[in-house]
Parts: sequence; structure tokens; C-alpha cells
Amino acid sequence: MNRNLNKKENLPLIIKIIVIIVLIGQITIFFILNSKWIIKKENEKIISKEIQIINTKSENENGKCEIKYEICKNNSLTTSIIKMMEMEKEIEITKKCSDQYGFSLINNWKKSRINICSGIGSSQISCYKRFQPEKHILCTGNNVEIKGYDPFFKAGSTSLPAKNNVHFGEGFLTVDCNQEIKNWIPSDQWEMHMDYVIGNMVSVPEMNCEHWINETAMFIFRWDYRNSYHALEDYITTFISLMILDEDPQKIQLVFTDDMPSGSQLYNFWSIYFGKEPIFLRDGKFPKNTCFKKVIFGMWARYSILDIDLKINWNKNCRSPILFAFKNYIFERFNISFKDNVHKPPYTIAFVKREDYIEKKVSRKIPNYDEIFNYIEGKLPPNWSIIKFQPEKLTIEEQIQISSRLSIIMGPHGAAFSYLVYFPEKSHLIEIFMENRVAANVHFRNICTFMGHEYHNAGHFNSDIPPDKLWNLLVHQLMKLKNFLNLKKKQF
Ligand SMILES: *[C@@H]1O[C@H](CO)[C@@H](O)[C@H](O)[C@H]1NC(C)=O
Ligand SMILES: *[C@@H]1O[C@H](CO)[C@@H](O)[C@H](O)[C@H]1NC(C)=O
Ligand SMILES: *[C@@H]1O[C@H](CO)[C@@H](O)[C@H](O)[C@H]1NC(C)=O
Ligand SMILES: *[C@@H]1O[C@H](CO)[C@@H](O)[C@H](O)[C@H]1NC(C)=O
Repeated sequence: MNRNLNKKENLPLIIKIIVIIVLIGQITIFFILNSKWIIKKENEKIISKEIQIINTKSENENGKCEIKYEICKNNSLTTSIIKMMEMEKEIEITKKCSDQYGFSLINNWKKSRINICSGIGSSQISCYKRFQPEKHILCTGNNVEIKGYDPFFKAGSTSLPAKNNVHFGEGFLTVDCNQEIKNWIPSDQWEMHMDYVIGNMVSVPEMNCEHWINETAMFIFRWDYRNSYHALEDYITTFISLMILDEDPQKIQLVFTDDMPSGSQLYNFWSIYFGKEPIFLRDGKFPKNTCFKKVIFGMWARYSILDIDLKINWNKNCRSPILFAFKNYIFERFNISFKDNVHKPPYTIAFVKREDYIEKKVSRKIPNYDEIFNYIEGKLPPNWSIIKFQPEKLTIEEQIQISSRLSIIMGPHGAAFSYLVYFPEKSHLIEIFMENRVAANVHFRNICTFMGHEYHNAGHFNSDIPPDKLWNLLVHQLMKLKNFLNLKKKQF
């Protein structure tokens, strides 16, 4: 009886226990679901505060990349990096394109970090390398001593970089760790900063630091200062370095180690890019026994991503998210809004006029340039205009501002086409090959592909170009652009 009674009383107890277990289970599930939500929310909060790219990309079955990213740091490059990743997602870039021109190039490069200093000293040297398709090595140094001007650094002539123009003495870079850079980098893999600066590195038991530079310095041996295509290679290579290192250009002091002059518009670009004037090593601003908290040894732009294609033909119709991010960053620095970076009336055709500039004689001048210009100007429909395009006669601000509003550029193969990077998407290039420049020079066809522009080869000429021939080509491009813009027929 008692047992029966107990059983009877125990039954509701079991039910109670079951109910409690179920309740606990539900609460647990509820908690798990909500905590996931809470964690997600927290990450989203992190996005708006401190930055770091945690997760990047995975490849799906189609060989396309799915980009997952969480950002948790904020500097002047952040918006551009976010836009780069969004763009990769939007255009469904292939893995191969991302590996060469997109986010995974940066990410893989980042992961290649090697520390080449050991021992108890305070110095650190880290390098990041891309050996495929070509060598390209980025290094940083922490707590390193850099000897100042003469006799450790001697400048020669002011021409383009040639090994004999600038000399760095042994011990130019001094560290208090054990380093074996020469074993790590094969001798055929040296490039400008490696050979000059890091190649002259010596290890000592103790550095002699009389002066400290606490601001991060970026040493760059420029590739060119007067050709806007090669200067673009300098700018882009620097941009890639900053992304690999998560460094903010607005917090860096640029130091040029080359012996090229200052003062050109392409030089002025650097001051807006980094927010302050570069320092020249040759000016002797760093006395002997100057130690740096952090130095970035920028890569030589001879091996820029723009150049990969010219040798190895990597370009498989790749849009370049990196170039897009660069454009975004430069627009921010130059106060140009993407809202204005569209095709608008008057639709403008830039006709490149090549003339000698700085101390350089220029080839590939169209003998009957003026005749062609007048012919086309007389035939253009309303709301269209043509301008003589000579970027070297404009300030750097005007160069970028004007380029950001152009719709078509035409002229002889030359560096003026580099400004296509700033044109509105779906602009047109009509490239005329002349003299020794033939269609195998794919520099600007590639920039069109990278930026999403339309490319047209106008053929090869050695003397006067029949104006009606160019006009016919131009009409073809105008019609394409018209279709793109969905303009009314009567405008043509
Ligand atoms: C990032 O910093 C910039 C200023 O450096 C600021 O304008 C912007 O609002 C910040 N963004 C976020 C998401 O915090
Ligand atoms: C640089 O940092 C050192 C300590 O690491 C400090 O003693 C020195 O005052 C700093 N110099 C400047 C100019 O901030
Ligand atoms: C962009 O705008 C800022 C703030 O108004 C200004 O300080 C800066 O000089 C401008 N930059 C350029 C390149 O005009
Ligand atoms: C020229 O552009 C303006 C502004 O968009 C427009 O109002 C006008 O109709 C255009 N003119 C012609 C002839 O198409």
C-alpha cells in the first residue's frame, strides 16, 4: 500500500523531472541559438572598432571564391579593403584571378612571413615573399640601426634607377640579432631594396642608438618618377605592401632611397597618398647611429602586378579587386566621390597629345594630330566633347579629377592611358600603335580588363592617320557606349 502510494506520488515527480529536463533542454537550445546571435552581434561590433581580417575566402565546387570576412580594425585603408572584398564577391572572381590580382594574393603573401633574425637581441627582420610567378619580397625591420648619408649611402646621377647610381655601404643596416639573409634569399632573387639595403645588413652584439625614430618609416626605391605607367606600378606595389602588413599610410613616413628628383606631379602624388611629404635619404636627415622602431623595406615595382601579364600572360580576363581598392583609396585621398565617377554629359573624349616632357624626348607623336582633332570635333553629336589630353600639363589633383569624369580615351600607345584606372567603369580605350610599339604591348589592354573597360586596337601607323578612319572607329565606340548608357537614338 505504502509502495503503491509511493508509486502514485512518484509518477508526477517523474513527469516533473521530465518537464524540467525538457525545459532545461529548451532553455539550452534557446541559449545556444541566442549566444550565436550574440557572438555574431559582437563581431559586427568589432567591425566598427578594431580591425583585423580574420577569415577570408574558401573555394566552392565551381572553382569560384566565396569570401567570408570579418573585419576588426579601422585605419585609412579599411573602407577600400572592404570594398575590395565586396567586389570579389559581386563579380564572382575565379580563384586564379584572386590569386594574382585579388584578395587571396594579399592573404597568401601575408601568410608567407618568415623571421630571419634569431638570438637574444632586440632586432627583428621579417620577410614576406611571392616567388610565383616572379620573385617579389617585402621585408620589415624592428629595432634596427640605419646609418645616415655618406659614406654609407652615396647618390650618383639623377637618371632612372641603375645599379651604379646609388651605393649603400656595408653595415648600412645594422642589427643585434643573428641573421643569415644571404642563405635565405638565393642570389638570383635579390631586387633593389634587398640588394642595396638588406644585402648590406650586418649583425653586431650591440647597436649604437644615439637617435630613435619611433614613427614607422617606409623605405622605397622608386621605379620611375616621370612615366605615369611606371609610377602607377610604384603606387600599386606600395599599396599591396601596406595591405600585406596592415599598415596605415597616414601613420607612415615615406623615405625615398633612390636618387630621382622631387618636384614632379607624379612625385606630388605621394604626399597626398601618405598625407605628408616624403623624406629623401640623400638629404641626410637621419644622422649616423639612428635607430628605427619599425622600417618597411618596400618592394621594387619592377615586378608589379601590372607587369606579371606582360611576361607570363597570366591575365585570363581578370578584373582586379586590388586595383579597384587602390582607386577607392586614391579617390578618398583626392576627395573624389564615386557618385561623380560616372558617364555624364558632356561625355568627354580625351585625345592624347604626346610631347617631350621633363628632360625626355618622346616618340610616337601623331604628325597630323590637329587635323584629326578638328575633324572629330566638327562631327561630334551634341553633348559630346573632345579634349587634348596632356596630363603632364596638369597638376596631380587635376589629372585625377579630370580622369574620373572621362568616357573615352584615344591616342598613341603611351603612359597617359594609365589614368584609365580612375575612369568610370565601362569607359573605352582606342589605342593606336606606332613606330616600334606593336599590339604585343598589352599594358593598357590589361588595365582595361582589370578595371572593366572596353578595349579597341586602332591598328599600326607610321605617319599621318586618316581622320575619317579614326572617326569611324570612334563612332563604333560611341555606339557601344550609347548602348551602355541607354541614350536616346537622336543623340547620334
Ligand atoms: C574608421 O575611422 C574613420 C576615421 O579614421 C572614421 O571616419 C570611420 O567612421 C571609422 N569607421 C568605423 C566603422 O568605425
Ligand atoms: C621614442 O621611444 C623611446 C622609448 O622606446 C622614448 O624614450 C623616446 O622618448 C621616444 N621618442 C619620441 C620622440 O617620442
Ligand atoms: C580633401 O579634403 C580635405 C578636407 O577638406 C583637405 O584637407 C584636403 O586637402 C583635400 N585633398 C585634396 C587632394 O584636395
Ligand atoms: C544634353 O544633356 C542634357 C543634360 O543631361 C539634356 O538635358 C539634353 O537633352 C541633352 N541634349 C541633347 C541634344 O541630347
